[in-house]
Amino acid sequence: MTKFWSCLLFVIILLFTSKVASYKILALFPHIAKSHFVMGEALMKGLADRGHQVFVVSHFPQDYPVPNYTDISLVGSMRNAVEDTPLENVGNGDIMMNVNMLASLAVEICEKILSFPSVQKLIKSEDKFDLIITELFNTDCMLGFVHKFNAPFIAIGTSVMMPWGNIRFGNPENPSYIPHHFAPHSDRMSFSERLVNAVYQKGVQWAYHFLMDMPSQRIARRYFGDSLPPLAEIARNTSLLLLNTHFSMNQPRPFVPQIVEVGGLHLPLPEPLPEDIKEFLDNSEHGAIYFSLGSIVKTDTLAADKRDAFLQAFSDLPQRVIWKWEADTIPGKPPNVKVAKWLPQVDVLRHPNVKVFLTHGGLMGTIEAVHSGVPMVGIPLFGDQEVNIHSYISEGFAVKLHFDSISKESILQALRTVLHDPRYRENAVRISRAFNDRPISPLDTAIFWTEYVVRHGGAPHLRSAARDLSWYQYLLLDVSAVLLLAVIFTSIATFFVTKTIIRFALQCRLSQKKKNH
Ligand SMILES: *[C@@H]1O[C@H](CO)[C@@H](O)[C@H](O)[C@H]1NC(C)=O
Ligand SMILES: *[C@@H]1O[C@H](CO)[C@@H](O)[C@H](O)[C@H]1NC(C)=O
Repeated sequence: MTKFWSCLLFVIILLFTSKVASYKILALFPHIAKSHFVMGEALMKGLADRGHQVFVVSHFPQDYPVPNYTDISLVGSMRNAVEDTPLENVGNGDIMMNVNMLASLAVEICEKILSFPSVQKLIKSEDKFDLIITELFNTDCMLGFVHKFNAPFIAIGTSVMMPWGNIRFGNPENPSYIPHHFAPHSDRMSFSERLVNAVYQKGVQWAYHFLMDMPSQRIARRYFGDSLPPLAEIARNTSLLLLNTHFSMNQPRPFVPQIVEVGGLHLPLPEPLPEDIKEFLDNSEHGAIYFSLGSIVKTDTLAADKRDAFLQAFSDLPQRVIWKWEADTIPGKPPNVKVAKWLPQVDVLRHPNVKVFLTHGGLMGTIEAVHSGVPMVGIPLFGDQEVNIHSYISEGFAVKLHFDSISKESILQALRTVLHDPRYRENAVRISRAFNDRPISPLDTAIFWTEYVVRHGGAPHLRSAARDLSWYQYLLLDVSAVLLLAVIFTSIATFFVTKTIIRFALQCRLSQKKKNH
């Protein structure tokens, strides 16, 4: 009993003494895709809940006030261009399309966000912040605020590492086994895949420099003044990157201490499903398929032949299908299909009758499927969706359906493979256990490291010396060159010395013979 009371006392003391200082934190999330905001929102709400005062610049202000959470709204500053693009045009995610899309979006973000009144007010304010949080994505023009407020700053990464992200941390990025963000393969590559991977790596870094960083720099100088240092220099002072990945599903990669994997940070606690969805899933005696292409693209822009292929394939299956569909009706909908404009996705995936997730392969949705142990059929469209799906294929819990080859037959074949071969479900459950098994939750991990950076004044002790090396030093090309020269020199020297010795020996023998005669 005394043990119990002393334990209780200890817990009470811990609760009171662990009360943290309240920091003033500014978050800048200028990207308009909801799926990116979901991660930042979860982190900022978690920090507000800890008693920090957070100010969040975003396109998604809260519907209801959240204590300690202040919105700086970007609503009305820009439109989501991808939303208006027919699916056919984004469904062919080759590397040029990806880079061009990110580059034009970067310029648009810098121009429209930095000139927007609420942001202009912030540029002119005399506020002080203990920490700045932003997203490492397609532009660094928000880092002008880091210079202005002279505060330590951290980044979140909502997808697998951006191709230009490693350099600023000196993080290993060996293309022999680390698949590129836009790569159509997993971490186990054939010779030609390694070749493609290596070319992508350097090529996309150059494209970033010329098409994204240089224009961002020009625009940022206009709004923050000519004394603004190069954005790439500021970016190299990032104290921490909270990355939305996990080695169980995104495959093991090396990370310096500045990069912390917090994949699944946004996962909410289970909530009851809306009554009609619950009933539809409860009564699906052959199981159910959940179909969503995410929050960025609109499924109702799908070409009619592809839409009909899905409907015909679904009508041939005994399973029920829930389809996230943004229009009010869908022509020719079979009775086993239910459409909804919005769904509590993770709670749908947690329903035990959901057998397959038909997805575009975005990281948020696929994390929710991995967390719930649901195997997938992936239709990658753009961005990191290819590399995500290829990782899941190599872990044995997904198959891929090419967007361009969508037909009734290919859809049925992909779905039946995952539905009928029990290995897909078994692998999904196995990876799910590995994904959910953590010492502390991803949100608490992220909060700990965020506070750590403020407590330690930007935590410069986390920085790897690799950041300060030039590329040829990092790759040991100078050392290799010296060693190679040494080998060449030694070989040449050995050759000549040996030659001289032999010649001398021969001459000796010759003169000996002459003498003997
Ligand atoms: C922030 O939250 C803490 C804890 O809930 C509360 O005591 C404090 O008054 C809040 N601060 C502001 C500025 O709302
Ligand atoms: C980066 O951080 C160092 C150390 O705090 C500082 O001296 C330097 O000015 C910073 N660089 C930029 C470009 O802000």
